[in-house]
Amino acid sequence: MAVQFKKAGTLPVDAMAAPPCTLVIFGASGDLTKRLLVPALYNLAHEHVLDASFDIVGVDRVQRNDEEFRAYLGETLKTLAAGGSEFGATEIDDTAWSWLSSRLHYMTGDFDDPGTYQRIVSHLADRARETSRANAVFYLAVAPGFFGPIADHLAAAGLIEANTADFRRIVVEKPFGSDLTSARALNARILRVAAESQLYRIDHFLGKETVQNIMALRFANGMFEPIWNREHIDHIQITAAETVGVEHRGRYYDATGALRDMVPNHMFQLLAMTAMEAPNSFSADAIRTEKAKAIDAIRPLTPQETAVNTVRGQYDGGAVRGQSVNPYRREPDVAPGSCTETYVALKLMIDNWRWSGVPFYIRTGKAMAARRTDIAIQFKRAPAVLFRDTPAASVDPNLMLLRIQPNEGVSLRFAAKAPGRTVRLSDVNMDFRYADYFRTEPSTGYETLIYDCLIGDPTLFQRADNIEAGWRAVQPVLDGWTSARGGVELYKAGGSGPAGADNLLARDGVKWLPLG
Ligand code: BG6
Repeated sequence: MAVQFKKAGTLPVDAMAAPPCTLVIFGASGDLTKRLLVPALYNLAHEHVLDASFDIVGVDRVQRNDEEFRAYLGETLKTLAAGGSEFGATEIDDTAWSWLSSRLHYMTGDFDDPGTYQRIVSHLADRARETSRANAVFYLAVAPGFFGPIADHLAAAGLIEANTADFRRIVVEKPFGSDLTSARALNARILRVAAESQLYRIDHFLGKETVQNIMALRFANGMFEPIWNREHIDHIQITAAETVGVEHRGRYYDATGALRDMVPNHMFQLLAMTAMEAPNSFSADAIRTEKAKAIDAIRPLTPQETAVNTVRGQYDGGAVRGQSVNPYRREPDVAPGSCTETYVALKLMIDNWRWSGVPFYIRTGKAMAARRTDIAIQFKRAPAVLFRDTPAASVDPNLMLLRIQPNEGVSLRFAAKAPGRTVRLSDVNMDFRYADYFRTEPSTGYETLIYDCLIGDPTLFQRADNIEAGWRAVQPVLDGWTSARGGVELYKAGGSGPAGADNLLARDGVKWLPLG
């Protein structure tokens, strides 16, 4: 890995400049391009880490010319900056924007039309004449149904063949497959025309600084690793709670649901970072091998276990932060009788020497009381022998909370003696907040990922086996739900999820950390 633990938005001084490259974005008129990719590219331009001859070609069916494309993205950028979105920047630096904007080109074209790809060939040939390089990254920011066909067309046009001097890479967005069979088929299809080393399968959670920090916390410190195992840890809770509902994504989401949308990718990345063994080195493959092994060790649920160890919920009407929310079934593009889950909770076991017997409770949901992504490591209770005749016995066990977002940081809860003449214990927190130690720059999380792809570092991207391991663990749940009677449990929008999820933990004598 060329640059380790790059801080998204503030690349370290030793970060090498990205090589010259043409970034071809398929889906240039889509939501991802305007909301995340172009803002991230703007942040990279602002940091001066893109090469002077960097250029972008946006491809989509909508009729536009370069000027219209630039104006549309410029307006969007300003609106995002004004709205305090995930973009982070609150104002646009005109110099950085005109630098980027002058490099934006638009190509009206159908993804199924070989002519589109011939025009890309000509564009790259022009670039090669002007700059003597024809490096290219093809970013598939399109509906998943296009991933395979676009890869085939790129190959047919000879666009994926790299010569020794120039690279050709493909970035594939999520969702990568909708189950184990389709993920395998997609891997096989793309790998027929491109080498694994040319493929960058994105999981944007890996672009989050705090997710990368899990490895630093675990493996750069001598004090945590010895207790990071079944001897000392009681259970682990992984939460990704969102306040937003399905928004304008009803068509995609209603066919997908929370399990497919979040678990085999984002939630399992958090699980893998927490559960993996120390890799032998920082090489991309060493890290990805350990992650694949951790995910692979998740015990597949039998149909009976699926009924007991999984909970699916769907938000009903309610209010989130004082704003009233429609029931999911009344959201745009959602079937009125939909049984799609907008919340899922799972109890998973990892069958290996380190984690045997330690439950991993995972929950993710939309329209919940708070936006919070974190990992709670709940340590075993200390024997209360010494304090058995005092109120001390009721003190909570030690807890380490890795806060992925917001309020990024790590806290450690332990017991302390409350001042006074009698022995009374109280929980206290030791708290590390990123913002207290580091300057955080505006970042969408995509900066690191785009930059890494440009410099050819695949560490933060998913290898084929990582993707398939995730689906292998989720497939029995999908199967179990298909064959089971019953369906989703409604929960109030703005609440903490369905009662079933509380019962799932209560059976083991534990509770979810409160969301608020
Ligand atoms: C996306 C999912 O991949 O991740 C969305 O499709 C979800 O449904 C989003 O809202 C969550 O990401 P973040 O970065 O906002 O926590």
